[in-house]
Amino acid sequence: MLAAEQDLKTQTKQQLKNKNMQEINPINIMEKFSLFDKQWTPHIIGELNGQYVKLCKLKDDFVWHSHEHEDELFMVFKGTLLMEFRDGRTVEVKEGEILIVPKGVEHRPHTNGEIVFNLLFEPKATLHTGTVESEMTVKELGWI
Ligand code: NI
Repeated sequence: MLAAEQDLKTQTKQQLKNKNMQEINPINIMEKFSLFDKQWTPHIIGELNGQYVKLCKLKDDFVWHSHEHEDELFMVFKGTLLMEFRDGRTVEVKEGEILIVPKGVEHRPHTNGEIVFNLLFEPKATLHTGTVESEMTVKELGWI
């Protein structure tokens, strides 16, 4: 390899390293929540290990659905999320709490009229309405 080629390779590696370094910054969750109002539409704020970190504002009723291959994490930053299951149970997830819904388990998130701030952590391919397609399904998620 020519010296010039080697230099270029080293330079490119350094640039990539710098790029990655620039991306290591804290992300303020509440600040990100202030950037959108649309309900039931997840917004991406980060990615790692093939997964997205998403924020979603929830109000009133969502659709019944399940995720065939993915467990789903809900983390509440504001308000109380109500998660309904087919066995008739409704689980309350309060501010500062998380709930993990195992794959294949049908669930319906809803709220008691308040807007709930929710963080989701799931594989990139996961659709928020799972295997159910409804008018609420958003296929292309945006970054904020
Ligand atoms: Ni779900």
